[in-house]
Amino acid sequence: MTQSSLLLSPFQLGPTKLSNRMVMAPMTRSRAGEGSVASELAIEYYRQRASAGLIVTEGTQVSPRGVGYLGTPGIYTEAQGAGWRKITDAVHERGGKIFAQLWHVGRVSHPSFQPNGELPVAPSAVTPAGHARTLSGPQPHVEPRALAIDEIPETVAEFAAGARRALDAGFDGVEIHAANGYLIDQFLRNGTNVRTDEYGGSAENRVRFLREVVTAAAEVWSADRVGVRLSPLSPFNDMSDSDPFATFGAAASALDGFGLAYLHLVVPGSADPESESGQITAHLRERFRGPLMVNGGYTFDAAEAVVAAGRADLVSFGSSFLANPDLPDRFAQGSPLNAPNPATFYGGGAEGYTDYPALAAAVLA
Ligand code: PHB
Repeated sequence: MTQSSLLLSPFQLGPTKLSNRMVMAPMTRSRAGEGSVASELAIEYYRQRASAGLIVTEGTQVSPRGVGYLGTPGIYTEAQGAGWRKITDAVHERGGKIFAQLWHVGRVSHPSFQPNGELPVAPSAVTPAGHARTLSGPQPHVEPRALAIDEIPETVAEFAAGARRALDAGFDGVEIHAANGYLIDQFLRNGTNVRTDEYGGSAENRVRFLREVVTAAAEVWSADRVGVRLSPLSPFNDMSDSDPFATFGAAASALDGFGLAYLHLVVPGSADPESESGQITAHLRERFRGPLMVNGGYTFDAAEAVVAAGRADLVSFGSSFLANPDLPDRFAQGSPLNAPNPATFYGGGAEGYTDYPALAAAVLA
């Protein structure tokens, strides 16, 4: 199986040589410490998973305003950058590659996370259904404050500063988190963007903020070290759009000209090309001609098949990488997988974080 596996074969991602086409998907683990600095345990967690062709870190907020959860790391202070440096060094020592995921949650934040208890910011004052997980327990989401048009350049600059800090911290690149109902996604979809200026209305206008963030990141890095993550059909965080094929088609077309490292799609169910997920994946692949990464419940066989069929170049794995630090070896050996334990996904210490076992050396030999 190993000899013929395309998934386990190397891939040239712009200037970055990946040892296989398996990516560790970004996953919030809520274990950062004081000052939103990645913890010492995080060094071991990422080191253990360095056999991924590429690691994309958990979302790391570019601004104190971008915080939406307890214990998520940031990338806007010197101490946070120094924390990340230990992680990039550990991954590189093991021969791995790692991109930082740049994140701003927008309306999904809560005043208790904000500087001076202010309202979260968003493209428009549209309140999400649901609750924020705050220090004092679940709190209903609040109506966010719509960003004034003259605040948008500052927000883009926060992403640029995060990109700069990621470069200084030794990452191989950055992924712009434009998925899952966070700030950039809030601009993209018309369920959350009801602006009447040049950042709202047409799909091209709603894509403008993403385009500006990507332009800024590509000025810090070269574009071939910048990836973008989108979730075109996901309702997570109370998201909706009246025409996802048109909205995300416009986004993919806008991203096509940059020469980006990759486009990363959260498309559960896309292993079936006939599903809506499969169809939107094909629709975006036609419009974005760079490397395409798919995510969402892929097994080894499904991942192998999607890559072999040319429908994607890379596949990212979330909970299976979380529970199996040596996932590429396990796929290569056809070995059983550890089951992820959702009770230890968020917060806590080593349990469910750095204590998932790798295969015994004897099994590998
Ligand atoms: C979460 O913490 O639930 C979460 C964070 C980032 C995502 C998705 C989910 O992109």
